[in-house]
Amino acid sequence: MLQDRSVGDVPLTEADFDAISKRVREASGIVLGSSKRDLVYGRLRRRLRVLGITSFAKYLSMLDAPEGAAERVEMVNAITTNLTGFFRERHHFEYLERDLLPHLPRQGRRLRIWSAGCSSGEEPYTIAMTLHRSMPDLHAWDARILATDIDTEMVSKGAAGVYPADRIAPVPAELQRAHVHQLDGSTVRMGDDLKALIAFRQLNLLDSWPMRGPFDAIFCRNVVIYFDKPTQRALFDRFADMLVPGGHLFIGHSESLFRTCDRFRHLGRTIYQKLR
Ligand SMILES: C[S@@+](CC[C@H](N)C(=O)[O-])C[C@H]1O[C@@H](n2cnc3c(N)ncnc32)[C@H](O)[C@@H]1O
Repeated sequence: MLQDRSVGDVPLTEADFDAISKRVREASGIVLGSSKRDLVYGRLRRRLRVLGITSFAKYLSMLDAPEGAAERVEMVNAITTNLTGFFRERHHFEYLERDLLPHLPRQGRRLRIWSAGCSSGEEPYTIAMTLHRSMPDLHAWDARILATDIDTEMVSKGAAGVYPADRIAPVPAELQRAHVHQLDGSTVRMGDDLKALIAFRQLNLLDSWPMRGPFDAIFCRNVVIYFDKPTQRALFDRFADMLVPGGHLFIGHSESLFRTCDRFRHLGRTIYQKLR
């Protein structure tokens, strides 16, 4: 039997935890197993402190009130795990550079890539740097990267494109020189040439999508790991609808389409290609 979590004077009862998990799942698709109790407690206790609320029961009433919409956004922001990095899972960008971009149909010179669940922007900026490096005639292309996340704070960070200087360590030196500007000793800013390629937007992947596509590639990495199978199945099916025939889907290292979606073939190393 789990103990009520009571640090300070605010206990999180099992009923509170279940009610919060239900609301998080409805709002984002994120499934919070009982192993996430400490995480939920720590992150939402901070919200209670900010709001001056003295119990989780009162917090739940606030979430459910008509004027609770803004706090529902804050709750999702607090719960999401935003771990990311430049050139994370580097082999995906090597594949993009060596195998995908050189074989794009040149007719129309249109390129669309979606970073779905982009967190604070390192992933779409990495895609943008890869495009610059491997497409000498990029200026002649109608190329765009859509970067979306449910977390409004992350979307703002991505759009700002300002990072602590130590975060760019994985970026190859020649790309740093070309596209990253030092603001001061401890902060860097992504170049306007990268920013011009990327549109940052808040988007819940469970909602309807305003864009028409089609995309040549979708990066949705380390996002569906937090969803249950039916949610993953529906999402991968919608990704397939959004891709051009033969379009690519990149997922996270611990994710898989096995027994979840049969509209792709596995090319290896969590890279999938939509069947024609
Ligand atoms: C661990 S980060 C992954 C970031 C990046 N794709 C990477 O692999 O480095 C997961 C991101 O998915 C976002 N996310 C979670 N649920 C989402 C949803 N329903 N719709 C859109 N984004 C979601 C989170 O806010 C978080 O920023």
